[in-house]
This record gives sequence, C-alpha cells and structure tokens, in this order.
Amino acid sequence: MITLGIETSCDETAAAVLDGHMVLSNVVYSQIKEHEPFGGIVPEIASRAHVEKIDAVYYEAVKTSGKSLEDIELIAATAGPGLIGALAVGYSFAKGLALARSRPFTGVHHMEGHLQANYIHDPSLKTPYLALVVSGGHTELIDVYDEFSYKLVSRTRDDAAGEAFDKIGKIIGLGYPAGGKIGKLAETGNPDFLKLPVMMRNKPDFSFSGLKTAVYYEVREKTDEWIRDNLNDICASVQEAIVNSLVDKTMMALKQLQYKRLVLAGGVACNGRLREKINDLAVRHGFAWQAPEPRYCTDNAAMIAVTAARRHAMAAPASYDFIFPSGKWYIQN
Ligand code: KG4
Ligand code: ZN
Repeated sequence: MITLGIETSCDETAAAVLDGHMVLSNVVYSQIKEHEPFGGIVPEIASRAHVEKIDAVYYEAVKTSGKSLEDIELIAATAGPGLIGALAVGYSFAKGLALARSRPFTGVHHMEGHLQANYIHDPSLKTPYLALVVSGGHTELIDVYDEFSYKLVSRTRDDAAGEAFDKIGKIIGLGYPAGGKIGKLAETGNPDFLKLPVMMRNKPDFSFSGLKTAVYYEVREKTDEWIRDNLNDICASVQEAIVNSLVDKTMMALKQLQYKRLVLAGGVACNGRLREKINDLAVRHGFAWQAPEPRYCTDNAAMIAVTAARRHAMAAPASYDFIFPSGKWYIQN
C-alpha cells in the first residue's frame, strides 16, 4: 500500500510517502525562523506559512519517493488536535487531493500518529505495551492493550513535558523551542546544581508547572551573566527533574500493569538522558523498550501515513473527520 501522509498541526509542514511501513520519503519544513522573533508559535503565521509551503513540500515528497501521484493508493492527514487554522491547511489539501484522484482518505489523530511511529522501524511490535507519549502539548501514559486500543493510565495535570522544557528555556534565554538545546547543554552540566521540587511524588499523574515557577524563582534575581556562566548546570538540573518525573511514573505504571514492554513517542522522546535512564531501568528490571528514530519522534508526516496504512491493512475503522472535538484518542476510566 503506497500511502501519502500530510501533517500540518503546528509549526511543521510535512509530507511523506510510505510503501507499507517503509518510508520512501519524509519531507519536513520547519517554521522555526518564522516564529523565532516572537518567542513562540503565532497561530496565524503558522497557517499562512503552511499555505505557502504545502505544495512544494508535497511535490518534493512525491518526487523523492520515486513514485508518481498515480501510484498513491491511500491519502492521510492529521485531523487534530492542533492549531485549527494550521490543521485546516493540510487536511483540506489532502482531502481535496483524495477526492480529485478518487483515492481513500483517512484522518489521523496526531498523538496516535506519534505512538504508531514506532511501527516504522518495528512493524512486528506486539501489544500489549505501555506507551509514554511526550510532546510539546501532551504528556500521557497509555495502556495499549490491543491493536488500536488505547486506555489512559495517567497524564499531566498542567504543562506537558515539552512545554516545560520550552517555557523554562524561555526563562533562561534559550528561545523557542528549547528541549533539544537544553538536552545538549545538559550533557556537560551538574544535575544537582539547582534544588528543584519533585512534583506529584508517588502519584500516577504528572505536573510540570511548579518546576517552571521554581526555576523562575531561582534565576529571577540573578544577572544574565550568572545564568550564562551556569547554563550547563541549570540545564542539567532542569532536564534531570523532568526526566526523573517521566521515568518514575512510567515505572509505576509498568509495575501496575505488569507489562514487560515500553514504547516512547513524541518530541521529548528524542531526549538522550530519558533514553539512557529508561535503558538502565530496562536492563535492571528486565523489560523491553523502544523509541522511534529522533526524526520520527518530532512532528513528521511518516507517522501519519504509517498509522493510516496500518489501520487500512487491518481494516480498523479510520474515518475520522476534521476535527477531533475533545482531542481524546483513548478511553478513560
Ligand atoms: O512531538 P513534537 O515535535 O510536537 C508536538 O506535538 O508538540 O514535540 C515538540 C517538543 C518541544 O516541546 C521540544 O522542546 C521537545 O519536543 N523536544 C525535546 C527534545 N527535542 C525536542 N525535549 C527534550 N529533549 C530533546 N532532545
Ligand atoms: Zn507532535
């Protein structure tokens, strides 16, 4: 099944062509430059930039895949959640193309796409497993008890993990997005430099907004020079606090579900320290874990295409309309 995926939920214009789960092309245009001067994403600018780029990104994806438009058998686009104006661009583009070419069309939930990105390198991944889905807008532990069957285990009560990285990055002058920069700077820093609070200790849910406030109080009376001089240590402390919280709650959930398999997904799953800690625990406690390659952790269209292709191949219902109203893609107790 040759599948075209389109993703425009936030600040990346992305298109990908897959043959089954195999990625033939994966084109991502990041709007970082458009939003950088504003210190965060401006929804209207995002929508306009998607309109300007979608044609070129789509053409490049088809061209570099070695396939032609005629070869494409299934078309998929992110149906939500995300910035409504941004989503509308990719969704309308993909649905219009599907109608014009008489091809089946599938809307894909963005967070399910992040999770399903794991099937790109491991199509034989078997359920059940626990998934830690950590992005700029979401932090959720999901019990994947069967194919396309998701049950919420716990989630953040306030900020998402990626949002915490980004907001703290802004406080210490790193600009947007800051997750990757903090990860890099933290490599040579001392994680015990700042005494940061442990949020929701022994509780299944996450909370990160207190951490952001704690960092703000730590640095607000310090000079820019002090922050610069101690940047690696500050980043290491922040990263350690966020990663410890992710890891602790993941371990609690694994124990509770008695699962031996863990899957990471979303932009924060790129984080080296998170992967390192999970790997240590996996060795110690005897569970298997995996995460997509970093380029399939951050926003991309291959994850949207693989979700649609797998649902199509297994005849799982996939007629999602624009836009998922509640943003939920799992069942909740
Ligand atoms: O999944 P994603 O690309 O977009 C959303 O759906 O939100 O995730 C983006 C988030 C941003 O908050 C970014 O700071 C974070 O992922 N991120 C990282 C790293 N790379 C990206 N956070 C920590 N460490 C990283 N290496
Ligand atoms: Zn995302």
